[in-house]
Amino acid sequence: MHLSRRGLLYGSAGAAAVSLAGCGAGEDSAQLTGFTGISMPTDTSERWVIEGKALEANLKELGYDVIHQNAKGVVEDQIAQIQSMVGEGVEFLVIGAIDNTSLGQVLADAKDNGVTVIAYDRLILETPDVDYYASFDNYQVGVLQATHIIERLGMRDEPGPFNIELFSGDLGDNNSQYFFLGGLDTLESFIYEGKVVIPSGQTEQEPTATAGWSGDVAQARMAELLAEYYDDEDTELHAVLSPYDGISRGVVAALVEADFEPGRGGFPVVTGQDAEAASIKAIKDGTGQTETVFKDTRQLAHTVTGMVKAIVDGGDPEVNDLGTYDNGFKFVPSLLLEPVDVTADNYVEVIVESEYLTEEQIDAGEA
Ligand code: BGC
Repeated sequence: MHLSRRGLLYGSAGAAAVSLAGCGAGEDSAQLTGFTGISMPTDTSERWVIEGKALEANLKELGYDVIHQNAKGVVEDQIAQIQSMVGEGVEFLVIGAIDNTSLGQVLADAKDNGVTVIAYDRLILETPDVDYYASFDNYQVGVLQATHIIERLGMRDEPGPFNIELFSGDLGDNNSQYFFLGGLDTLESFIYEGKVVIPSGQTEQEPTATAGWSGDVAQARMAELLAEYYDDEDTELHAVLSPYDGISRGVVAALVEADFEPGRGGFPVVTGQDAEAASIKAIKDGTGQTETVFKDTRQLAHTVTGMVKAIVDGGDPEVNDLGTYDNGFKFVPSLLLEPVDVTADNYVEVIVESEYLTEEQIDAGEA
């Protein structure tokens, strides 16, 4: 793991731009037209579909040509799609990788063709050919999730012990380790104190991982954990640290199947991420998870559009972090945005009033 986390964090987005001569498209920028290839990783998680469209619209508004494809979870398709974008002559690639180590060769080809590569939300590893990274403070996502559990269970005042189970994301996604570590670091002192117990003993990233970020995979693992570690009346489950709303809904489904009643005392605290409509509905109605982490992906799309524009205009994109995201070759200059904790208390202000989702979309459970 390369986690020199707070290395050179320059504060929030919008902080001083850092000059990065040589990292962008360089001297040829005068001839650039902004032609961009967008490669999104999956359509099973709402955010990538919404963001792909937003990015495309933002770039087109600037008069840039765009090729936009979604590889729907198939690594080989993503490689082929990127390869064909390079063949079409894109000047920029904006990539949300499915698997963080599978793009080395195709990015080497892109580099040979002078393409500027922006890793979108997920860092691409083990290649020198990534120029920029735009994402959120992924470690902070885990901190917010764990803090929700601590506060919701009153852990600072109550004696406990509290039984918690941990879920992490797909192992091929670099973000997973940051979410997980942020959560674990935040729970660490309670674990040492003995206030937090993890009855399964599964505290490492690998056994807690959820392939493909799949809700079904999470549901199956939760069902197994319940059967194996919580089948006697005395072992209560107090909380589940879940990194993503789709996983959270799978966890809740397993709990319901095991006769836990959402909304009643005794239903475990379940966290999440991405402010998906179905999860906000559960948070609002008190029928499942109680928290999600909102990452304003409109802002991310806007940020990345700004990066492309800066290079087209002959300048350097703004970044605010040079020392956190080591991809195995280098610390990739990054622009990190701030994630926001969302509960029933603030979803109206954060999600509805910002026009991310309407109450109707939330009630329908669909974005
Ligand atoms: C993203 C999360 C998302 C997850 C599953 C991660 O890379 O950062 O926002 O929940 O992928 O799509």
